[in-house]
Amino acid sequence: MRMVDIIDKKRNGGELTKEEIQTFVDGVVSGEIPDYQTSAFLMATYFKDMTDEERSELTMAMMKSGDHLDLSSIPGMKVDKHSTGGVGDKTSIPLAPIVAALGIPVPMISGRGLGHTGGTLDKLEAIPGYQVEISESDFLQQVKDQGLAIVGATGNIAPADKKIYALRDVTDTVDSIPLIASSIMSKKIASGTDALVIDVKTGAGAFMKTLDDSRELAKALVGIGKGVGMDCMAIISDMNQPLGNAIGNALEIKESIDLLKGEAPADITDLVLTLGSHMVVMSGKAKDLDEARAMCEKTIEDGSALKKFGDMVAAQGGDRNVIDHPEIMPQAKFKIPLLAKSSGVVSQVEADEMGIASMLLGGGRQKADDQLDYAVGIMMNKKVGDAVKEGDTLLTIYSNREDVADIKERLYANIEISASAKPFTLIHETVR
Ligand code: URA
Repeated sequence: MRMVDIIDKKRNGGELTKEEIQTFVDGVVSGEIPDYQTSAFLMATYFKDMTDEERSELTMAMMKSGDHLDLSSIPGMKVDKHSTGGVGDKTSIPLAPIVAALGIPVPMISGRGLGHTGGTLDKLEAIPGYQVEISESDFLQQVKDQGLAIVGATGNIAPADKKIYALRDVTDTVDSIPLIASSIMSKKIASGTDALVIDVKTGAGAFMKTLDDSRELAKALVGIGKGVGMDCMAIISDMNQPLGNAIGNALEIKESIDLLKGEAPADITDLVLTLGSHMVVMSGKAKDLDEARAMCEKTIEDGSALKKFGDMVAAQGGDRNVIDHPEIMPQAKFKIPLLAKSSGVVSQVEADEMGIASMLLGGGRQKADDQLDYAVGIMMNKKVGDAVKEGDTLLTIYSNREDVADIKERLYANIEISASAKPFTLIHETVR
């Protein structure tokens, strides 16, 4: 079977067979299929989509491209959460310790930044010493000892996704339902979790811009999970404006720690508690969402979640002093305010453009092998619905270069100040 024929079939809108999908995945992993053909296949899939059958076959072929983790030696119901990616979305970082502090094992396999969105692994690497690449046996041992770990997919978890993910990032083929669904679910099935909560983002800063597309993605993800016997549900949450105030790796770690101290903005705190409540109910430790939420809140109030975070950081080689001394993470040389040019109410903050601005400052990758600058990013001083006066600081640019005129121009073009703003809804729907 020639790869060019498989590309041709997909390019012309045909439905691929299980064998054709397997040939593609095998060739990607073995290196027999060159990047240019993989890229062409991804672009064809982007435009022609896949049927439910093809999506499941692609997921299973990618899942089987590597190891299947056996978590059975870890007692208890293992619960994980995955997000489809957003701007300022650092939920995993405080969420895992909150849930683990309740005695629920959280074996979390996370990703790197993709497109304009940040990645949990990149953020955690802002903490001096934190290792995201640990062996499978160390991963299992850490979840047994500490109750949680946040790591990258080891070389052997869905290696097909590793290659495809990196190519999608640089070929503008990220926001495709079959490619997102197979990427997420191949890793989640391979990681052996019992239950999964998926946070599907919707809006300007999400890969899915409309509620309809987000719902289709949520259904595809949940359908694939349930198809293999995983307890799986999704929420659709808003990503029109950045989540929380911090965008950028070290800045988002600081905000995650603030959340665990009960000092973070309301939107990110609410989302983390909502996701945590679903995870706790799925684990069987609470009878309903209200009880679960109160349990999650208590882990913040009594400091047990913050301690868990410190334990995880230390177990993965990081410096737990980051909790009280965030300045041990890389710091930006310049903090440059963006001042409002008029008075009114902030009516729109385009999340994707805030993410791109942070990426252009060095916080994200423009090419697959770019080195990140962990210090840079953006802190929102005003969000949608906030009143502003001319001259107020809308946001602060954290930069290691003094001249940020290009960034300012981009940011100004994407923040709207009007007479009023539409009410903001954080959580749109639940999909089961
Ligand atoms: N997260 C993933 O793991 N894969 C995607 O494609 C998007 C978000």
